[in-house]
Formats: sequence, C-alpha cells, structure tokens
Amino acid sequence: MATNRTFTMIKPDAVADGHTGAIIKMIEEAGFRIVAIKKTLLTGERAGQFYAVHSERPFYQGLCDYMSSGAIVPMILEKENAVADFRKLIGATNPAQAEEGTIRKLYAKSIESNAIHGSDSDENAAIEGSFFFAATEEY
Ligand code: CMP
Repeated sequence: MATNRTFTMIKPDAVADGHTGAIIKMIEEAGFRIVAIKKTLLTGERAGQFYAVHSERPFYQGLCDYMSSGAIVPMILEKENAVADFRKLIGATNPAQAEEGTIRKLYAKSIESNAIHGSDSDENAAIEGSFFFAATEEY
C-alpha cells in the first residue's frame, strides 16, 4: 500500500484536559508524519459545515455545540495505509467499545466527547484536510 494521508482533530475535551502532547506522541510513535498542524476554534456554523453529512442525525446539534465549545487541534497525517491504520490507533467511536491501548480507550469520555476524529476514507481525508489547511500550510 502506497504512502497516503488521513485527517484528524484532537477534540475539545482532550485539548482542555491537557492530553494534546500525549496524543501527538502516540501518533508519531505509531509512524505517522505530521504534514500540517494547528490549534484553532470552530464556530458553531463551521462545525455545522464540517459535520453536514450528519445533519439529519439526532446528535447533530449536540455534536456541533460540543465541537465549537473549545480549542481543537486539526492535523493532516501521512503514512502507508494511513486511513485504516489511524482508525485502528484511535479505536471505536464509542470508547466503551474501544480496544485497550487505543487513543479513545485512554482519553475519550463518551461517544460524543470521544477525544479524537479520524477520516473514514481517502476521499474524506482530502476533503476534511482542505477544510482546515491551505496547500501552503502542508510541509
Ligand atoms: P467522529 O467519527 O469523529 O465524527 C462524527 C461524530 O459524531 C463521532 O465522532 C461522534 O463523536 C459523534 N457521534 C456518532 N454517533 C453518535 C451518537 N450516537 N451520539 C452522539 N454522538 C455521536
């Protein structure tokens, strides 16, 4: 499998609780190269755009409120088989079902406050990465 990219965000609960450094350490130790990174805030409106695919779901408003409640750390990451390997590293969406040693098992509080996002396909990784970063911010 060729080197490819995924997109992630460390979510407000994990940033506020001071887990940013520990999570980045796990990501780098798992072999991912950080292509782009910043600390930023999503407005409610921008969160709504990012999660538009979930707009009909009952948790949509709560998700947008939560994702705009504090700072996040979005990143573009590069590795062989990046999308699938990163989803393995973060664990199941619901931390109650996440495997031992995964980022969500260690740091997520609930299915909503679940510490970190990981793209579910190469196509979405590209769309989500360009939502946060210009090509000139990728190194
Ligand atoms: P993520 O996969 O990063 O992006 C979509 C998010 O929606 C997901 O993480 C969860 O945080 C959230 N989510 C998914 N399902 C539910 C649910 N049933 N209740 C609340 N939040 C959810």
